[in-house]
Amino acid sequence: MQSTAGRRAMHINLFLFACGHHRAAWRHPYSSVGRLGDIGYYEQLARTAERGKLDAVFFADGQSADNLADGPKWFLEPLTTIAALSRATERIGFISTVSSTFYTPFHAARMLASLDHLSGGRIGWNVVTSMFDSEARNHGYEAMPDHDWRYRRAEEFVNVVLGLWDSWADEALLRDRQGRYADPDKVHAIQHQGEHFLVDGPLTVPRPPQGHPVMFQAGASGQGRDLAARYAEAIYAVAYDLPSAQAYYRDIKHRVREAGRQDPVPIMPGLVTYVASTAAEARRKQRELDELLPPEDALRQLGLYVGQNCMGWELDAPVPDLPALEDFTGPKGRYATVLRIIETEQPTVRQLLGRLAAGGGHCTMVGTPDEIADEMERWFLNEGADGFNLMPPALPDSLDDFVDSVIPILQARGLFRREYEARSLRGHLGLLRPASA
Ligand SMILES: Cc1cc2nc3c(=O)[nH]c(=O)nc-3n(C[C@H](O)[C@H](O)[C@H](O)COP(=O)(O)O)c2cc1C
Repeated sequence: MQSTAGRRAMHINLFLFACGHHRAAWRHPYSSVGRLGDIGYYEQLARTAERGKLDAVFFADGQSADNLADGPKWFLEPLTTIAALSRATERIGFISTVSSTFYTPFHAARMLASLDHLSGGRIGWNVVTSMFDSEARNHGYEAMPDHDWRYRRAEEFVNVVLGLWDSWADEALLRDRQGRYADPDKVHAIQHQGEHFLVDGPLTVPRPPQGHPVMFQAGASGQGRDLAARYAEAIYAVAYDLPSAQAYYRDIKHRVREAGRQDPVPIMPGLVTYVASTAAEARRKQRELDELLPPEDALRQLGLYVGQNCMGWELDAPVPDLPALEDFTGPKGRYATVLRIIETEQPTVRQLLGRLAAGGGHCTMVGTPDEIADEMERWFLNEGADGFNLMPPALPDSLDDFVDSVIPILQARGLFRREYEARSLRGHLGLLRPASA
């Protein structure tokens, strides 16, 4: 994570999502809701992020179309979107979420390797095990397979993908017009046979320019953290305040060391920002979006996080008692965040909904550019974060605000790059290229 100037460098990804991360952003009269199928919209946002010298554009992903009345969720599929965006940009990286439960490793390895070639080495993948029964039922399962099974499959999946990328040595392609196209001694089968997959290999695509596209991981349970500690090269985390970020950060860095790794593994929590020239104006921007949010929509979303029907909850009453973390069978990371907000802020149901409406419990910073930069620096210098996954509440405005007013302050303080120093995503993140087998 050192820049070439030798300083520890902050990393910032833009997490692109629909009209923005506030659940009501699409309802705003000037929102881009009519442009979500238009690649020009994403190109414009990616170019803004590149103008701000951000490390990468990050895409989450899901595999079912639920609650469509509440707002846009998925529209363009991320891998195909990234293929187009990489042609509209030059230096910024792109990270796609990939489900280890629903993809096959051969398919994932092939698409990501192909993207890494066509982008000139700017690709990353965010391995998730997915969450919802409605997704499982689009992929041949009656319901979501259980957590342990999903993480066993995820580990095998990652190993097969890495093996396939290594099935070609760097110098396997000879392109000798009078002789051989490739050296058969430098391309090998992997002959994998495990609990979930049978894959002979080799891959159809020669070794990616980065060796391996950069692996991100986003899972908060013990198994998620262990998988991250053993394999992830960077982590997308969820932390709603500095103490919870520090607890997560220290735990992951400890697990990485326990796994015998020296890699930096930058940890990048999600960050929602409302920026304006005065704090009052920034709060007004936040309130304007909050007021667009229908309470039923927010209650339904809360129900997903806490695994129960919240539709009858009294808005101005305290949040009803919820089961302890160990008794909760759904995704534990976000649930732990909800429990922590309740414990520390003791909000009413309405206040909790407001807190979760943008980014679902990720950290929210509201204020002037200096105030936001101060807070980001505080996290960066105090084992809270190595960078952030920026989640603009409304697009393109909140992204423009951040790039035009916060980035220059971070640059002036020497915390963030003024120019790209590398050509690959690996280079931006200060990660070494894995050696060829
Ligand atoms: C910060 C964060 C981001 C995530 N993003 C996605 C996503 O885009 N798509 C998805 O299907 N799952 C996503 N997940 C879900 C995880 O991959 C995982 O399947 C789920 O959280 C259950 O694992 P856990 O109990 O280890 O958290 C995300 C989880 C976290 C913590």
